[in-house]
Amino acid sequence: MTQLLNGKVLSQQIKDEIKETVAQTTFPNGRPPHLAAILVGDDGASRTYVNHKIKACEYVGMNSTVLRFEQDITEDGLLDEVQKLNEDHSIDGFIVQLPLPNHINSDRVLQAIDPAKDVDGFHPINIGRMTLNLPSYLPATPMGIITLLERNNVETSGKHCVVIGRSNIVGRPMSILMSRSAKVGNCTVTLCHSRTKDLEQHTKAADILIVALGKAEFIDKHHVKEGAVIIDVGITRIEDDNMKRGFRLVGDVHFDNVQELCSWITPVPGGVGPMTVVSLLQNTLLAAQKAVY
Ligand code: GUN
Repeated sequence: MTQLLNGKVLSQQIKDEIKETVAQTTFPNGRPPHLAAILVGDDGASRTYVNHKIKACEYVGMNSTVLRFEQDITEDGLLDEVQKLNEDHSIDGFIVQLPLPNHINSDRVLQAIDPAKDVDGFHPINIGRMTLNLPSYLPATPMGIITLLERNNVETSGKHCVVIGRSNIVGRPMSILMSRSAKVGNCTVTLCHSRTKDLEQHTKAADILIVALGKAEFIDKHHVKEGAVIIDVGITRIEDDNMKRGFRLVGDVHFDNVQELCSWITPVPGGVGPMTVVSLLQNTLLAAQKAVY
């Protein structure tokens, strides 16, 4: 029987746990945790994501600040803002919402963040520490997937995990986490990407298939082995006049087509997405507790 990896329900449960911890903890700085977000330009999706993060902070009793900048801010201007946040003792952690405009070198900006405040876990120091299994902030989406597997007691040890997509923020860190010697991990990992030949041959061998491809409903039953665990990171808006808001959200996996074949599957929406937000809260809590650095 197929079971749902329900991120909506689990994320609510974890938010309630964080809320209780925040209420009961005396933090080293003598105030609740404080997350800041830098938002550049007016990309609709980025605005929505940042709003979700801020609302989640409010729910758990954390402070939050959004710093909005025009699309034409210079790279040096943005680097100055990052430096100000690095030095601001009233902020425990902050994120720079991606993507940034093309004229800004995102790597330079992310590398300017103090690793101790890098609650997105994107700084090379945090990626390096993650790779070496040292204390670090884990990137939010892969961390959310690990939590979803852990809290649902999905066995990973000794399994063959296939990850599709090698982005710095999802696919690559995901592949590293699944291979680590850790409670969730110990997999044999295959990382597939745009140059992979015969993708289906790889996906059909997967006990755990993690799809972060960005192509709506690309994975169907021909790609999936019976009994596999399917994690769908994709989220694409499809125009749909039958919906009040004019679109529906679909993942990279054709849910209806694949559902009956697998043992566990994440829905879209309500799977990985809400877990990403919760991971950011968990990292912000660690930052305020000075638990990593
Ligand atoms: N853009 C898409 N996902 C993310 C994320 O997890 N963090 C940030 N900062 N930007 C994103």
